[in-house]
Amino acid sequence: MFYITTAIDYTNGAPHIGHAYEKVLADVLARWHRMCGEDVYFLTGVDQHGQKVQQKAEAAGVEPEEYANAVMQKFIALWDRLGLNYDGWAATSDKRHVACVQKILTNLKEKGCLYKKAYKGFYSVRQEQFLTEKERNEDGVFGPEWGEVIELEEENWYFNLSQHIAWLREFITTHPDSVTPEFRRQNLLNAIERAEGVDLCISRPKNRLSWGIPLPFDPDFVTYVWFDALVNYISFAGYLSDGDPTLPEFSKLWPAACEVIGKDILVPAHGVYWYCMLHAMGFSDEEMPKLLVHGWLNIKGEKMSKSLGNIVDPNDLCDAFGAEALRYYLVRDTKTGYDSDYDPERLKMIYNTELANDLGNLCNRSLNMCKSYCGSVVHHGEGDDELSAALRTSLAETEATFASCMNAYNTADALGALNTHIKQCNAYIEQTKPFMMAKDETQTNELHRVLFHLLESCAHIAYLLSCVLPQASARMLEQLQVNAAALTPQTLAWGLLPDGHTVQAPTPVFPRIMSEEEKAKAAERAAKAAAKAARKAAQQG
Ligand code: ME8
Ligand code: MG
Repeated sequence: MFYITTAIDYTNGAPHIGHAYEKVLADVLARWHRMCGEDVYFLTGVDQHGQKVQQKAEAAGVEPEEYANAVMQKFIALWDRLGLNYDGWAATSDKRHVACVQKILTNLKEKGCLYKKAYKGFYSVRQEQFLTEKERNEDGVFGPEWGEVIELEEENWYFNLSQHIAWLREFITTHPDSVTPEFRRQNLLNAIERAEGVDLCISRPKNRLSWGIPLPFDPDFVTYVWFDALVNYISFAGYLSDGDPTLPEFSKLWPAACEVIGKDILVPAHGVYWYCMLHAMGFSDEEMPKLLVHGWLNIKGEKMSKSLGNIVDPNDLCDAFGAEALRYYLVRDTKTGYDSDYDPERLKMIYNTELANDLGNLCNRSLNMCKSYCGSVVHHGEGDDELSAALRTSLAETEATFASCMNAYNTADALGALNTHIKQCNAYIEQTKPFMMAKDETQTNELHRVLFHLLESCAHIAYLLSCVLPQASARMLEQLQVNAAALTPQTLAWGLLPDGHTVQAPTPVFPRIMSEEEKAKAAERAAKAAAKAARKAAQQG
């Protein structure tokens, strides 16, 4: 079983391009593993509790639940648009999740992993949080951004995190595949080296935060939002569900093969809290999930933020470029694990060159020539030649590279390899010149062979692209009349199109993305050509 999950998004605002990147990456990986014939379970969802949501709801004058559910709908609508094919939806206000978190808390308390303690410290009334020495400014005082700061003594519940740190250090050191990419595992190891023996406060008094999961053994408190949210990976996988038929069977899913998260929530949330929570619950080393840590999408080198006003709404990009263009760009232009810059000009450029030009032209020309010269019937042709043999070798190598990159979560290089082969196919057209062969009856056999090599390549490419471009891939396969249902990347072999196979006439799948200016110019050119034709017709008539 390939159980893949993502971070669950906060419902304190609208989805942005960073959220979309993570979910599209996970969807592409889930689709890839499904293609490979594995059982896949893809879970994603929303993180609804906590201070931020409660504050937003108060400002909007509605109950937190109403607010969180309204924002959740925005995420669901975007994921539908982007074609995410997930199997489970994790929303943390779901009763089944609440019950699971409460059972875990009860168990941990019974095991002696939780304790209550009073804490006295400086507290910002405006920010509703305790302040530490780090929050003092260079003059040694708490700045005006904190508003009124009072000394407050408060009781809370703590998780004995510090007692699991030695185990964690050993676990991460001895399990190189726990965190991918490797440099992120090193980041985590360094953080653990510096980790002090501090326990984790896992409660908030209800009088300052009510929007959370009540502690089952102390009704004056709700659960700290991270302790609640991290549990989603197991609660929605059926952990402690008593065979609830609406949830999966836990033993079939766990441990997660891949939890896709951003770099900001590796330390301490996933890399420290989550592993230690699982360890405290009694999970063994072999039952720990694997983390895939991606970088951030920035805007012109700057962090996306409300104050900079540079937040990118993926819905606008779907409107302007189409959902599949956005999917392709996100996993093609970002190397998994590293930061990258979101740039709509690059989105346009990559789509226009790699999809509209390279792939779109290849499919259209090949299908068009097959229609014009062979009545849309594919003939294998006899014999062989060097260029055709080289094309087959290139395709086989491309497929191997594509698979190994995808298995290593490297979508950018997988798609790069595919594009290189597509370019080679276009070069093969220029080298073999089937349009010249068609004029010479003695070259019919060669013409058949060339068109077969082109269309067979198109079929393989269209199939492999289905994990990134499900809709465009389906349209290409339809035109090529290939049924991909029985295919797997491992058994993909030359000869998808049998001798005598009939294909359809092409209809373009990747229309060029044009700016308003380009559209106006194109319209102008078309109008001029029409006027010229009309004048010519008038002169002749
Ligand atoms: O952190 N580029 O929620 P969130 C790439 N609820 N990824 C980005 C990004 C960016 N600019 N901004 C955010 C939370 N992300 C918690 C998670 S998991 C149990 C709870 C990623 O809405 C971020 O790294 O702030 C995280 O993986 C996800 O989007 C949700 O971020
Ligand atoms: Mg965040």
